[in-house]
Formats: sequence, structure tokens, C-alpha cells
Amino acid sequence: MAPPCATAVVAAVVVLVLVLQVSVDAGADCRFPAVFNFGDSNSDTGGLSATFGAAPPPNGRTFFGMPVGRYCDGRLVIDFIAESLGLPYLSAYLNSIGSNFTQGANFATAGSSIRRQNTSLFLSGFSPISLDVQSWEFEQFINRSQFVYNNKGGIYRELLPKAEYFSQALYTFDIGQNDITTGFFINMTSEQVLAYIPDLMERLTNIIQNVYGLGGRYFWIHNTGPIGCLPYAMVHRPDLAVVKDGAGCSVAYNTVAQLFNQRLKETVAHLRKTHADAAFTYVDVYSAKYKLISDAKKLGLDDPMLTCCGYGGGRYNFDDKVGCGGKVKVNGTWVVAGKSCDDPLKRVSWDGVHFTEAANKFVFDQIAGGKLSDPPVPLRQACQISRGQ
Ligand SMILES: *[C@@H]1O[C@H](CO)[C@@H](O)[C@H](O)[C@H]1NC(C)=O
Ligand SMILES: *[C@@H]1O[C@H](CO)[C@@H](O)[C@H](O)[C@H]1NC(C)=O
Ligand SMILES: *[C@@H]1O[C@H](CO)[C@@H](O)[C@H](O)[C@H]1NC(C)=O
Ligand SMILES: *[C@@H]1O[C@H](CO)[C@@H](O)[C@H](O)[C@H]1NC(C)=O
Ligand SMILES: *[C@@H]1O[C@H](CO)[C@@H](O)[C@H](O)[C@H]1NC(C)=O
Repeated sequence: MAPPCATAVVAAVVVLVLVLQVSVDAGADCRFPAVFNFGDSNSDTGGLSATFGAAPPPNGRTFFGMPVGRYCDGRLVIDFIAESLGLPYLSAYLNSIGSNFTQGANFATAGSSIRRQNTSLFLSGFSPISLDVQSWEFEQFINRSQFVYNNKGGIYRELLPKAEYFSQALYTFDIGQNDITTGFFINMTSEQVLAYIPDLMERLTNIIQNVYGLGGRYFWIHNTGPIGCLPYAMVHRPDLAVVKDGAGCSVAYNTVAQLFNQRLKETVAHLRKTHADAAFTYVDVYSAKYKLISDAKKLGLDDPMLTCCGYGGGRYNFDDKVGCGGKVKVNGTWVVAGKSCDDPLKRVSWDGVHFTEAANKFVFDQIAGGKLSDPPVPLRQACQISRGQ
């Protein structure tokens, strides 16, 4: 009986070697030629600014030296993503001046949600550019950019992507925070907000399937952050700010964010099953942000609940009516009241809603290597098709 047994051992070794070989090959970088991003202000690189009025100074002061359409003192997580992939910062699709889309486009705009809002930006601050609108923009972007690339040529070949980039690109998503806050800000209970999460997941699935239908194959999907650790959330619902966890964050808000994330993780896992030739990476940005907030002191940062570029002092230095760069009337003249703190590099919260560049860099460093992802692939390898689940 010895020979068959030895054969089996040899076969097992061969299989093992093959498996190891495959995993070594799978470690190669994807070399994404482009990134197309969808989302809200967490990744808006100028869309809302180009359309509804520019983000004022001191936004941009730390890195760009001037406002550049980002609600931040510097770079966002999507900027660090682009940088680390060797790509230029993404131009906003809605920004018609000076944009260069050869290696991607950004459809994210501040205030955007997955669902369409039944209100106006002017009433509520939530944007009409919901995720479905962003996907229409993307569809037009593909059609029109390819038409112009092929028929006009010239300079447009240095401003628009090559046709093959659409299937080779990384498609990134960071949206959902505003779907949760819209509900809470009109005084819904946690139960009422939770009740529409299945609808959010259905809509998100449809949009991702649309992008897949248009050629997208590599998806990198951020979950939502600990909203209950953000000054604006606390100020809008003081009743939900009463019960806090050890890091000083609202338990009610964060519980809903976590349940949203559980559903999102399942939704992404389901997409992985139904689209076997595509790669879907779920990225736990929540944990990265929560670690930053709960370890702020240990990391040498100031109080994470204190708004750097805010107004009004107090616990949060946040005033809903006077944002970063915002003005107040003093003796009949408008003067800037929403000023930056001295050292944004030591802060977590830039304007009470968004993180500082220093915080965004921390978050990027946490997520880029893959330890917070499902499957645990690094950003640079997020084209790997995950099998066995
Ligand atoms: C907007 O109104 C429609 C119709 O009443 C409703 O089905 C939908 O859930 C509402 N959307 C939001 C975001 O509240
Ligand atoms: C894009 O082109 C396809 C094929 O010609 C067409 O079916 C689709 O309606 C177009 N979409 C837009 C948004 O123009
Ligand atoms: C646009 O950016 C690409 C690099 O992504 C560069 O090669 C190209 O020259 C730029 N186009 C223009 C018109 O500057
Ligand atoms: C929510 O409740 C607060 C406190 O009761 C109230 O001041 C506010 O007007 C309510 N907001 C809305 C949108 O109903
Ligand atoms: C506003 O005007 C009053 C009266 O002229 C003056 O006392 C006060 O200092 C002024 N306030 C500021 C902030 O300039």
C-alpha cells in the first residue's frame, strides 16, 4: 500500500506548491491606470464648490495653500489613495475649469446621500447630487469622453481617459453618512433610521451593478465612520449626545453607523458572490477613525471633539450657522469668524464635520495595507478576485 500513499503525499505537495505559487502571483500590484470615485464630502475634491459656491479660506491652508474645493485644511483620504497609486489628484467631474480626467474623475459632492432627498440644499444643506445622479454623470462621462477622444482628438487625448481604462480602473465609494444624518437631523429615532437601511443597500447595489454593467470590475468600498464622534452630529441632536462611550462619542449615533456597516459588509459580500469576475473590497474606515479618536491623546493630538476651524467656543467650538471661513456681522460689517486653530496638524476635527489632513493621513495609513479590509488585500492589490467565500 506504500506507493499509492506516497503518490498522495507527492500530489499534496504539488498542490501545496501550486497554491503557494498562486498566492505569490496574486501579490502583484494592479497598476490601476485611473480611479473613479463616488461619494460625499469625505471625498469631494471640488464638485460642490464648482457648483454651489467655493469652499472659503482657510480651507486648503495646510497643503494646497488656498481653497481647492475640499472641506479640509489639506488632503483627503481619496487624495492619499491617488498619490499612493502614482496618480494625480482626482478632478471633480463638475469642475469645468482646469480639470484633467486622463486618470480618473471624481463624482463625489459634499452633502450627497445614497437616496434622493425630498428637500433642497438651500433648506437642509443636503445635496441633490445623490448617488443615482452621480452614476448618470458617470455614464455620460464614459459616452461623451470616448466620443470626444475619438472624434475631436487633439488636446482632448491629454485630458480624457483611454477607453480601456474604464475596465482597468479602481472604483471607489464612500457614501452613507448623510443618509444617516438626514434622518437624525429631522428628529427621527434610531429605529426609524434603521428601518430604511435595507432601502439604502438596495440602491447602492443597483448603482454598483450599473458601474459593473458599464465595465467597472474593481471596487473599493468604504464603510461609514463613527458619526457619533463628530461635533456637528452632537450639536444637531443634543439628546443623542447625552449617553456617551469611553471616547466621548454618542452611543446612539454610533450604534446606527455600526448596523449600517454590518449591512454594507453583507451587501458587498453578496456582490462578490453574484459578480464572480469582479473584485470587491469592503474597507472598515469606521475602525480607523474610531482608533484615531479614542487614541488621540496617546497619539499626541488635541481633544478630537474640538473643532479646529469653527466658531463659538464651548465644548465643540462648532456653530451650525457659522462654519469654517464663515462670517458674522459686527457693527454693520461682515467679518470672518470661523477661523482656523493655530496648529491643524495637532487636530482631528477640521470643521466639526470633516477631518483634518493629519487625521485623513492617519486613516489612509490604517486602511492602505489591507488589515481593515474584507478580503484583507492592500489597496495596490485590490484587483485580486477573491475566491473561496
Ligand atoms: C421622499 O418621499 C418619498 C415619497 O413620499 C418617500 O418614499 C422617500 O422615502 C422619501 N425620501 C427620503 C430620503 O426621505
Ligand atoms: C451611452 O451610450 C449608450 C450606447 O450608445 C446608450 O445606450 C446610452 O443611453 C448612453 N447614455 C447616456 C447617458 O448618454
Ligand atoms: C493630464 O494629466 C496627464 C497625467 O495624468 C498628463 O500626462 C497630461 O499631459 C495632462 N494633460 C494636460 C493637458 O496637461
Ligand atoms: C427637532 O427637535 C428639536 C427639539 O425638540 C426642535 O427644536 C427642532 O425644531 C426639531 N427639528 C425638526 C426638523 O423637527
Ligand atoms: C462696535 O461699536 C461700538 C460703538 O461704536 C464699540 O464700542 C465697539 O467696540 C465696536 N465693536 C467692535 C467689535 O468693533
